[in-house]
Amino acid sequence: MAHKTLPGSTDRRIDALLALLADNAMIVISGAKIAREIGVTRLTVWRWIEKLRALGVRVKGHPRTGYQIEEVPDILAPTLLHRRLHPGPLGKRIYHFFKIDSTNSVAMSLGEHGEPHGTVIIAEEQTSGRGRAGHTWHSEKTNGIYMTVLLRPPIAPQQAPLITLAAGLAVREAILEQIGLTPDLRWPNDLLFGRKKFCGILTEMNAEQDRIHFVAVGIGINVNHDRIPEELSKIATSLRIETKRVQSRVEIVARLLRHLDSYYNRFVSDGPGAIVARFSEVSSYAQGKRVRVETSSETYTGTTEGLEPGGLLRVRRDDGRVLPVIAGTLSEAD
Ligand code: BTN
Repeated sequence: MAHKTLPGSTDRRIDALLALLADNAMIVISGAKIAREIGVTRLTVWRWIEKLRALGVRVKGHPRTGYQIEEVPDILAPTLLHRRLHPGPLGKRIYHFFKIDSTNSVAMSLGEHGEPHGTVIIAEEQTSGRGRAGHTWHSEKTNGIYMTVLLRPPIAPQQAPLITLAAGLAVREAILEQIGLTPDLRWPNDLLFGRKKFCGILTEMNAEQDRIHFVAVGIGINVNHDRIPEELSKIATSLRIETKRVQSRVEIVARLLRHLDSYYNRFVSDGPGAIVARFSEVSSYAQGKRVRVETSSETYTGTTEGLEPGGLLRVRRDDGRVLPVIAGTLSEAD
């Protein structure tokens, strides 16, 4: 597996430490043995164990007794993730950060430097997580999935919205498989339980007139938040709140990349039809939904009337005009 590092990304020896602990779950391993195996001092082992504990990894013991992990760590570190991934380009190369401003920003810059299709950038925490329409994305430590997938689709820029629909569908399948509850999709790419959002997708593109260089598909999922900040609590939820159980982020990422790879391949080989049909089938927003649409220049209400072949959503406005929404934020109108 490719293990490259970037400034600020997780030291691959921490990655090795996590893998070593996970592989020896029932065994006490001495600090000296760990130090020898990963090539650092015992003091560094102790400091890193403390760092992992602060992220919720349950490790018993101290330098004199040795260390023992109490459960498989749910840290999105490359070695642990690679073990769960299916072979294929998505996630072949993973950059992991304990803390970064925004995984989308990293992806955009890696894309400009020739990073290959399928590279994944993932963080335990974001300090400036970005959302659509200039919003920020609440990215608290270790509870969520903050991930960007770099794709180089051989399609025209006009078709880029379909990639984001495909990503939403992939998240939906992954969550349904993982927790057994069916999320709704709000065009273009929010995932909801009832009226509350738990996942948002921000796709950014680098393209010429007729050719996409790359897209950065940024996915934020509220997984193990046990409460939502007051100001968001009416509109947001998490998987833990919905299921009353802590969920494995590693499993969700593995499932998500598998489904994304499969939707992506179908799209590139067969065209947009299957994505549009599937989205129309599973999203309550595709047809007959009363919505309020906010764009940078106006706000209006109307009723949705299906997706266009290119993935745009048609809305019959209350004044009778039927127009596609090009860039707008939707909410359910009462
Ligand atoms: C939205 O619903 O407004 C989109 C939210 C997208 C958030 C994700 S988290 C990972 C990636 N990095 C970012 O800065 N944003 C996206």
